Amino acid sequence: MCGIIGFSGATPALPLLLDGLRALEYRGYDSAGVALSGDGATFTVKSRGRIDTLEEKLKAADLPPALCGIGHTRWATHGEPSDLNSHPHTAGAVTLVHNGIIENYAALAHRLTLSGYKFHSETDTEVGAALIDFYYRLSGDPQNSLFAAADDIRGSFAFGVLFEDRPGEIYAIRRDSPLIAAHTEKGSFIASDVTAVIEHTSEYFRPREGIIVKISAGGVEFFDREGQKADCETERVDWSVSRAQRSGYAHFMLKEIFEEPEAIRKTVSPRLSGGLPDFGKDAPGLAELSRFRRIHIVGCGTAMHAGLMGKIFIEKFARIPVCVEIASEFRYRDPILEPHDLVILLSQSGETADTLAALRHAKSRGVATLAIVNVIGSSVAREADRVIYTLAGPEIAVASTKAYSVQCAILALFAVSAALSKKALPEPTARRICESLVNAVPDSIARLLAKSERICALARNYTDCEDLFFIGRGIDSALCTEGSLKLKEISYIHSEAYPAGELKHGTISLITDGVPVIALITETSLCEKVISAVREVRSRGARVLCFATREAARDHTIPCDDLFELDAPSGLPAAFCAATALQLFAYHAAALRGLDVDKPRNLAKSVTVE
Ligand code: F6R
Repeated sequence: MCGIIGFSGATPALPLLLDGLRALEYRGYDSAGVALSGDGATFTVKSRGRIDTLEEKLKAADLPPALCGIGHTRWATHGEPSDLNSHPHTAGAVTLVHNGIIENYAALAHRLTLSGYKFHSETDTEVGAALIDFYYRLSGDPQNSLFAAADDIRGSFAFGVLFEDRPGEIYAIRRDSPLIAAHTEKGSFIASDVTAVIEHTSEYFRPREGIIVKISAGGVEFFDREGQKADCETERVDWSVSRAQRSGYAHFMLKEIFEEPEAIRKTVSPRLSGGLPDFGKDAPGLAELSRFRRIHIVGCGTAMHAGLMGKIFIEKFARIPVCVEIASEFRYRDPILEPHDLVILLSQSGETADTLAALRHAKSRGVATLAIVNVIGSSVAREADRVIYTLAGPEIAVASTKAYSVQCAILALFAVSAALSKKALPEPTARRICESLVNAVPDSIARLLAKSERICALARNYTDCEDLFFIGRGIDSALCTEGSLKLKEISYIHSEAYPAGELKHGTISLITDGVPVIALITETSLCEKVISAVREVRSRGARVLCFATREAARDHTIPCDDLFELDAPSGLPAAFCAATALQLFAYHAAALRGLDVDKPRNLAKSVTVE
């Protein structure tokens, strides 16, 4: 999604803006631009394509040095990626960058046209610039004009705004889109997220909705509607700049997969007390889990797939029925929510627009909400009744990996906690599961990571294919959904995931000579069933790669073309290991195809628009 940055200080703004934009690249973008605030004039350069292209254009433009400016990476929503549609956009005295969507832009544009405004781009953002300029002309006051424009807009926004006659000042306001501000030795920043400023400071502000941020060389200020100074608490990142660097790995995605054992330990250990789950510090009151009669787990993409794992854990251990819901559907389909229901929102970023809307819907219906989120202080985390943070550290690659694994781990722990509170699981069994989550699971993943090159060699046999199928049963079926998504999004190989027993009810018609199928076998009790499905597809010509536990491979003859043995005890360690193995498979397949693994086409890291 779009990234915004703004700087005002005592040193030249341009290099800092470009560094900030590079740090935000991971969010996904197709164009970039900057505007520098000079004395009574604003100079804008923008371009379709990568930041390198923008930099070339900037060299040629040779702008006068400036100490204040704004920058943007655009992920196209309204209008194709083009120089004209790139941000910043200017109308009258106003130049701005925007992350979000102005839903009623057509009606606003019509109104503004009657007041003499002309529009040159296809974007909703240009309408936002004109609207702010319209009110600025009336009031001459930046804050009034921003509040008035915000009142007229239906939709989401984080705006960073320069007013031509106020050099050195940047104003910002947000609704449903992320925004942070920070004051550093060099000057003050606004940005879409803290990654853009972590090089300069670990302290930052996360302004709430309904206040205006003003930055200048002197510092950061916040104002409410009455023009009074408002408070905003300082937050601190607990990771250093090196966590957001590749540190010798070819890609962020690979680095983040390799961080999984540590991320799981770090996430689970602080939630154990005497070897049993204890969420008392994160989410007081959650201990009474036995009162919930039904749980809805809501998220998007990979987070929703972690929800599928959560459903298996919660239903198996705690015997509480769970529905897993795609957030974008949940919000519109009037779900049945009852007083004893709990809605769990899963999100790495905590800023996904659909997940945030689903949370608001659940709250409006008066049911209890729990967020499981990776980004501290993010919107979902703040608005939910309770929050459990996954402690995976920053996830930079667009494709989510370690965040998925820690979400699954926290859901397994939550399931044990619920089971204990319902007396559905004997304590020694609960203790064994917890022990496995902090030891056997991360240890098994670490052993798997040491065999990354072997998975790469196997992936080489499948990089030329156009379509691929994943099959598994039980927990493996849930793991396959995520394996398939990972492969699609970064390698562009079309794939589908099927419960192995379901394939014969239609999709098997697509299995012909040489069609690749990946089979997962981590559930000992279902091993023979999956082997039958493997036989069925092989007898129709499929080429089968099987990821199976050592135990399954020892006790059964698996009729596959390629076999990877998972060196992990069956149960949770094998399941987590299989998840990581599929992530590595997707990674190597994409890298072998020479693709931009960390920035797959069309995708954005944090999907802050509907
Ligand atoms: C896929 C991926 C996405 C996200 C989804 C939700 O690799 O990363 O499917 O999982 O957009 O994002 P969060 O978890 O930030 O709400």
